[in-house]
Amino acid sequence: METLLPLKCWTRAQQHGFRIPQWTDPLAHEKFPGTNCTVLSGQKLSEEFRNQAKELAKSNSIKPNLTVLLVGEDPASRVYVSNKTKTFAQAGFGSHLIEVPAAEATTELLQKWVHKLNADPSVHGILVQLPLPKHVDAAAVLGAIVLEKDVDGFLPGNVGLLATGQFTGTLSCTPFGVMALLAAYNVSLAGKNAVVIGRSNIVGKPMGLMLLSEDCTVTYAHSRTQNLQGVCAQADILVAAAGQALLVKPEFVKPGAVLIDVGMHRDSAGKLCGDIDPDCFSKASFASPVPKGVGPMTIAMLLVNTCINAWGQGKAQ
Ligand code: GUN
Repeated sequence: METLLPLKCWTRAQQHGFRIPQWTDPLAHEKFPGTNCTVLSGQKLSEEFRNQAKELAKSNSIKPNLTVLLVGEDPASRVYVSNKTKTFAQAGFGSHLIEVPAAEATTELLQKWVHKLNADPSVHGILVQLPLPKHVDAAAVLGAIVLEKDVDGFLPGNVGLLATGQFTGTLSCTPFGVMALLAAYNVSLAGKNAVVIGRSNIVGKPMGLMLLSEDCTVTYAHSRTQNLQGVCAQADILVAAAGQALLVKPEFVKPGAVLIDVGMHRDSAGKLCGDIDPDCFSKASFASPVPKGVGPMTIAMLLVNTCINAWGQGKAQ
């Protein structure tokens, strides 16, 4: 059977010992109830990468160490950061949280923190949780991180490597995790129409670039896109990162499409939901669930990125 691997964006992770499993047996795949649509299980794949990270840390004798800078009191950011630090602790890795109240935060103060962490050889990864308060210059704070400690792949130096088809830098965790998920389930990409709803620096833009690197024909859709439904209905692969609950309805979905949901919201009943209405699954061939889809993959790739940086820096804890 023809497989998607090696994935170009996986080159660096592979050089550092990480492997994407190949789940090519359709009979073994979990389906969404009452449909023929395969669940792209981020929960299962993230567990695989957590185990690989633990094994590799042992054989490299380096305990990866992440420091997170959390500014302000945004409740969603708190939940995300707590999930990240918990995952690192459970893997036996180092994770430290520096909290700065919004009222005390200035661009200069946060840059000072970053400089201190840059100079600390026990820190392999620096993560500045976004969004930062409006009065802070986020680009200037992120720009203070040295390239080799960027675990988010947000620095222009790393984005530039991706944009020019060089896979030697850190890649943004969410799209990187989506690519690994597609590869694990052997979803074919070359020549396919991929529509990415959303153009953020964190997800949308790098997602499109990674799909392009696998020869997809990529369309970016966003809040000013005309006839969103018609654009989405052309998609063989539809990535919804719009930040709008249940935006994607069945009439947006081409029969047999692959659906990737990057959204995380609560519906009117308080239940977790994504950007994609679950009624779409009966038309799709593969779909990522919310929760247990892209969310755990983002954290797993943060772990992978931190390991890669740690092996690269070769600084034992
Ligand atoms: N805010 C939302 N997602 C992310 C992420 O992946 N990294 C950082 N640093 N901030 C975020």
